[in-house]
Amino acid sequence: MCGIVGYIGKRDTQTVLIEGLKKLEYRGYDSAGIAVFTPEGLQIAKSIGRLANLESKLENTPLVGSAGIGHTRWATHGKPSDVNSHPHTDHSQKFSVVHNGIVENYLELKEELIRQGYEFVSETDTEVISHLVAREYEGDIVKAVQKAISYMRGAFALGVLTEYEPNKLVAVRQASPLIIGLGEGENFIGSDIPAILNYTRNIYILNDGEMAVLTEDAVELMTIEGNFISREMISVDWDTVTAEKGGFDHFMLKEIHEQPKAYRDTMRGRISENGGKVVFPDLKLTEEKIRSLSSIHIVACGTAYNAGLVGGAAIEQLVRIPVMNDVASEYRYRSPLITPDTLVIVVSQSGETADTLAALREAHANGAHVLAITNVVGSSIARDADDVIATLAGPEIAVASTKAYTSQLIAFYLLGLYMAQVRGTQSEEEIAHVIAAMQSLPEQVESMLEKADAVKAYAEQIAGHEHLFFIGRGLDFSVVQEGSLKLKEISYIHSEAYAAGELKHGTLALIEEGIPVIALVTQDNVLEKTVSNIKEVKARGADVMAITHEEHVADLLKSVDQALSIPKTLPMLTPALSVVPLQLLAYYAALARGNDVDKPRNLAKSVTVE
Ligand code: F6R
Repeated sequence: MCGIVGYIGKRDTQTVLIEGLKKLEYRGYDSAGIAVFTPEGLQIAKSIGRLANLESKLENTPLVGSAGIGHTRWATHGKPSDVNSHPHTDHSQKFSVVHNGIVENYLELKEELIRQGYEFVSETDTEVISHLVAREYEGDIVKAVQKAISYMRGAFALGVLTEYEPNKLVAVRQASPLIIGLGEGENFIGSDIPAILNYTRNIYILNDGEMAVLTEDAVELMTIEGNFISREMISVDWDTVTAEKGGFDHFMLKEIHEQPKAYRDTMRGRISENGGKVVFPDLKLTEEKIRSLSSIHIVACGTAYNAGLVGGAAIEQLVRIPVMNDVASEYRYRSPLITPDTLVIVVSQSGETADTLAALREAHANGAHVLAITNVVGSSIARDADDVIATLAGPEIAVASTKAYTSQLIAFYLLGLYMAQVRGTQSEEEIAHVIAAMQSLPEQVESMLEKADAVKAYAEQIAGHEHLFFIGRGLDFSVVQEGSLKLKEISYIHSEAYAAGELKHGTLALIEEGIPVIALVTQDNVLEKTVSNIKEVKARGADVMAITHEEHVADLLKSVDQALSIPKTLPMLTPALSVVPLQLLAYYAALARGNDVDKPRNLAKSVTVE
């Protein structure tokens, strides 16, 4: 995830910026840069790769000055490269901007600016901001920034400097976090607390729609419309490690809580302003190609494979094209039947998984158009694929994938809706209806996270068991496969996810007195059937927990031992909600067993061997 740090004061600015960026390295990044006011004017240094690359660039030509902004970039618009890294500037080189987030309407703005004679050097949405600020500047940087952002839609945290007013640093927050650090004769900005913790513990937290104007001696807070506001200063007592985890005990828990934001970010810029359509401005997959598709293969590993199960079902339902899901390590060795009308979708959080990369190459060798759904825009898979849909979940640090999985679901839903639009397989009303339901998902996840204690209590109950079962039908079966994988990998409890109707064909033999069975019961069309399967395990002594909608709790409690409820959405979208208690279950069970939640045994975050 991109990181921002900014400084105005008497210290060596370059050191403050580089040290601040180092504290944000844990979040992951692919390039970095700083801009500093020097006696020669605003000077910028940036570099792809690790911060060490930037430091070695600065070794012989340090940027000495009194104010500056720095950035670590996690590519979203445009590949990782020196030129795409921040800070960005305008053609006069008098303005400099660092930005976290996404400018949804950057293409429109870019076209307008190009028509007005502005020249672009990067592929980023951020460069639009530096040109806009330059265009609007009439002697007051605060007004210029306010004017510029009035044209922008989306999420942005900004740090802005101009050579014309070297005693000011302007910061903006709109749906992307930003804090102000307060010092004596110096002030700071940061996208995260660790960035400034070495220098101050006194902070203001900006809210959405607010901005700050920093000088060495003062910080003025105002709304983006220019109305002055006051804010209580907060004194942070976190150590660096707690600060990195945003106050959560583990990265996994932090990432579970980041899901509402990841949903919003993955949808951002991909839904038309009136909410009626999905738009994919950068997709190379033409409408003609979409119309000609006769089959889709979805290929991935682990959690990404599980996301593909849900995604494939959604695409089949929305687009009525046959979808085949495959584990990447199997796909490449089984001579898959790929025709010119096959679309191969590879799914990978890291974009570096060797099996998935090999499957992608196999698909390419057979002439398929390959579309990657990945969280890392500069990854090998993103580079090799013909098309990329980025999941904008931000870097995932915990080995157990959570927000990447759910963002992959969102990407699949969007893709399915887009294809349905092109092929005319769903009415405009139906598409708008699904989009509206998707837009409610983030709040629904937030409401579930508030009730995490009930899951925690159940996790503590099952933590002493060595075996358990998950059951479900339809999409519930796909989701319990993810729930089971999550539980196994971090709690080390052996679990099996079973299609509820399949148990009686053998596995029922393993159901004995007291064994926990977690039944996901959210799909109304198979609800009664699942209840029959629950009765089968109950009759053999299983202890059953049902996860279902509120309206079914009372009825289900006649057949199960306990029940948890989740909010209601469309059946197709339910996996984006129902997986959340399963993620929390795995987390709290691992915690209860004293395991290293973020770094489970035998596993690595990125599996680059076959
Ligand atoms: C489980 C998990 C793994 C990954 C798998 C694929 O929590 O993280 O199962 O999903 O190794 O990794 P990516 O998505 O990076 O290709």
